[in-house]
Amino acid sequence: MVVTGQPRTAAGSPAWFAHSAARDWTCAPAPAEVADFHAALPGYAATPLTELPALAARLGVGRVLVKDESSRLGLPAFKALGASWAVHRVLAARAAGEPVLLVTATDGNHGRAVARMAALRGQRAQVFVPRGVPPSAVAAILAEGAQVTEVAGSYDEAVRQAAAAATADPGAVLVQDTAWPGYEQVPGWIVQGYATLFLELDAQLGAESPALVVVPVGVGSLAQAAVTHYRARPGGRATALLSVEPDTAACVLASLRRNRPVSVPTGTTTMAGMNCGTPSSLAWPYLRQGLDAAIAVTDRDSAAAVRELAELGVSCGPCGAAALAGADAALTGLGSTRRRADLGLGPTATVVLLSTEGRTAT
Ligand SMILES: Cc1ncc(COP(=O)(O)O)c(C=O)c1O
Repeated sequence: MVVTGQPRTAAGSPAWFAHSAARDWTCAPAPAEVADFHAALPGYAATPLTELPALAARLGVGRVLVKDESSRLGLPAFKALGASWAVHRVLAARAAGEPVLLVTATDGNHGRAVARMAALRGQRAQVFVPRGVPPSAVAAILAEGAQVTEVAGSYDEAVRQAAAAATADPGAVLVQDTAWPGYEQVPGWIVQGYATLFLELDAQLGAESPALVVVPVGVGSLAQAAVTHYRARPGGRATALLSVEPDTAACVLASLRRNRPVSVPTGTTTMAGMNCGTPSSLAWPYLRQGLDAAIAVTDRDSAAAVRELAELGVSCGPCGAAALAGADAALTGLGSTRRRADLGLGPTATVVLLSTEGRTAT
């Protein structure tokens, strides 16, 4: 079923969904060996966590910290965490020395990360790219040595074509960061790979648990990793999780509202990495049960957040800034008293924004 988005209510409040029982839900943690795997990779370092007191004052909370993924394993987005672990697991499952073509579809960052990991492991990559991905992102994937196939359709269509190409070639494996019934093992590894980001965050925050973590969402795999991390650990009840999507591609918000996964039509958005019309089937049960709230933001909201963060010294692209745009929409303006109550936020709360990518070329 395809449903259309509802960007804002008539009264001007942002589109909002809240689930009061989310923090009572629990699940199993990601496997412990993932963080050790990443720590052994060349160029690995924890990404910075930057405190922005001026932003905390403006949003009316105790602390705001930005987890800055603008440089992760030499790439400008968090996606290399998932691609590296998934490619490692795919190659470990094959006979030694047997070459493999790693196939994926991308709206930019994931495809570049798969292409980089393939090259590092001496394998070839084929990356399907939908319409609307900026030429600079396509050039970056080509520069990693991958073959690029441009698709005259949406991200969902590019995923279909990549899956068909991988199925047709016995020497190929699909390394996709979204799941559907019957294709869940590799996306599961990708989500496991994202766990390292949250383990770093724990170490950086010390004894403190954030009251709110704000997650930019495309298909919901990163949000699945966030839910897994906080709902699996003792004390995870202290942390609310808010997903943020482009108002033109808010498939998770639409699905949460209907209490079942639905697809939404997508167009173009500057938040290219989040331009996805269908939630990951693997992520969906986690999001439905473990996310506290979901919100949608406009390209304009994201652009304003890019500017504000740049003025505060944090470089991020439109997806990265979506976390601030979502926090701003949730915590300020009409209806914010109720939204803060939905999130259980008091005036001294610590809020973590996941800035998932660095500044992108425009
Ligand atoms: C920069 C950036 N932020 C956020 C996301 C959303 O992640 P997910 O699709 O796992 O929800 C992506 C996905 O490609 C991305 O590239």
